[in-house]
Amino acid sequence: MRVIVTEDVTEMAVRAADLVVAEIKKHCNPVLGLATGSTPIPLYKELIRRHKTEGLDFSTCISFNLDEYVGLGPNHPQSYRRFMNENLFNHININIKNTHVPDGTITDFDAIERFCDEYEERIRDVGGIDIQILGIGANGHIGFNEPGSSIGSMTRIKTLTSKTRADNARFFKSMDEVPVYAITMGIGTIMNARKVVLLASGEGKAAAVAAALEGPVTTMCPASALQLHRYATFVIDKAAASKLSLETYEMG
Ligand code: PGA
Repeated sequence: MRVIVTEDVTEMAVRAADLVVAEIKKHCNPVLGLATGSTPIPLYKELIRRHKTEGLDFSTCISFNLDEYVGLGPNHPQSYRRFMNENLFNHININIKNTHVPDGTITDFDAIERFCDEYEERIRDVGGIDIQILGIGANGHIGFNEPGSSIGSMTRIKTLTSKTRADNARFFKSMDEVPVYAITMGIGTIMNARKVVLLASGEGKAAAVAAALEGPVTTMCPASALQLHRYATFVIDKAAASKLSLETYEMG
């Protein structure tokens, strides 16, 4: 496991962008796994900057997002499709038809199950994800794989924990509007990506980062599964690294 500790969020974004760009340059049709949340926004800004000022080309890229709320359409202000369009896709030359975000408009459970199987199939059909970007929840979740999620799980519907719903309530008018379910790639889906880059910033993530990197591999900390991945890199700022005890990590 590679751990890069950066001075600040700006440097975190630059180091993570370098890893993404290396994959984009290596493959004819790079397949990017993308994440929402506040942590990856500086990375997306850096990728947009490189597109606009350095000609970084996304025209052959294909993307798959980790998750989406069930019940929110693409135009809902809090939908992850909208987040991706606004924070990345609208500012780069990726073909929007090659961007995939789970469909939050399906509400029938059987239809959701079929959709999830198809999502996995589509990932397989394009040869798998080359590089998966992840954030981490304060409870160690990745995507909406909350503590207790099976390490082998694939894309499926999950009930959000009351903690995650409460954390996300600030983005909605009231708690009643916060979705109860989400579609998420599974931990197994994430483990199948050829490379994984987990980003974390701020002290609020320090305990989760320490549990993921230095604790046991356990479903109680879903991100700890990455200890078993062959090419997982944590790119974290100093504050997020503040509870780590080993001294062998790479400094930015
Ligand atoms: P955040 O979310 O980047 O908004 O902190 C990360 C996550 O919950 O995966």
